[in-house]
Amino acid sequence: MHLEKATLLYNKPLGKNYFRLACNAAKIAGDAAAGQFVSVKINNTHEPFLRRPFGIHKAEGGRIEILYEVVGEGTRLLSRRKPGSVLDMLGPLGKGYDYRYALIRRKTPVLVAGGMGVAPLLFLAEKLSQSSPRVVLGAKTKNQILCEKEFKKIGCSVTIATDDGSRGFKGKVTDLLEQVLSAMDHGLSAVLYACGPRPMLAQVSRISRKYGIVAQVSLEEHMACGIGACLGCVVKTKDGYKRVCKEGPVFNSEEIVWHEHTKGGR
Ligand SMILES: Cc1cc2nc3c(=O)[nH]c(=O)nc-3n(C[C@H](O)[C@H](O)[C@H](O)COP(=O)(O)OP(=O)(O)OC[C@H]3O[C@@H](n4cnc5c(N)ncnc54)[C@H](O)[C@@H]3O)c2cc1C
Ligand code: FES
Repeated sequence: MHLEKATLLYNKPLGKNYFRLACNAAKIAGDAAAGQFVSVKINNTHEPFLRRPFGIHKAEGGRIEILYEVVGEGTRLLSRRKPGSVLDMLGPLGKGYDYRYALIRRKTPVLVAGGMGVAPLLFLAEKLSQSSPRVVLGAKTKNQILCEKEFKKIGCSVTIATDDGSRGFKGKVTDLLEQVLSAMDHGLSAVLYACGPRPMLAQVSRISRKYGIVAQVSLEEHMACGIGACLGCVVKTKDGYKRVCKEGPVFNSEEIVWHEHTKGGR
């Protein structure tokens, strides 16, 4: 874990409420694994007091990229930070996806994103590119589909679900996931990597059980310290309570006691 003064390179809007931010953070980028996150002090004043966690979207050439949605005061202030300013960034934090599982067992990785859950999955897709990942992207409407081109550029096949049917399959991303798995010899050769709202992850977990396959899911609990000290982010697992910021954010879906955790999430 490193604490870096990260010089902001760009902070570009992507549609209405989404931003892609890149900064120089050589030590964090050098150690980052897909599924880990950074904890960002939003500005140099005491407001907001707590750092905000963001999944690592890309880490290359000494740079860290994050993809974020403006949802409240912290992200609104972040969206106003200009190139050249310096961000106080802590990372890489947490435990990421075990992408080697798919590579070693020659499984087809199926990456499932709900809304902003797409953010950490591009980094993962890069690590898995030799296994031709399938990517299933879900959003409320077509304008909220992010990173489709980037996934295609690294050789992923992408299918899309929108709640309103404005693009691709009309309905939930998990219903589309079932279609994708059924078309893959009942999905037996697949492994699922997911990030998104909690109810979606709970459904991914049910689907993985139905098909007898592994699912790794990234949970996004509200966090305070981000480094395992305050216990503010615990989730109930079959092996007791675990800290999302330290033992997670990525868990094997079978570990989580889902009925206690199906509310919340973005
Ligand atoms: C490990 C991890 C990785 C994350 N990665 C990303 C990412 O890549 N891109 C991105 O846009 N966001 C990500 N988030 C969520 C992001 O941290 C929050 O959106 C952000 O902290 C909100 O700050 P705010 O001050 O703008 O909003 P606040 O004013 O703090 O909250 C605004 C609204 O968002 C909800 N909210 C805030 N934090 C969370 C959270 N952690 N989970 C669920 N709901 C929340 C609040 O309940 C409230 O309704 C991640 C969260 C975690 C824990
Ligand atoms: S946020 Fe403090 S222990 Fe996880």
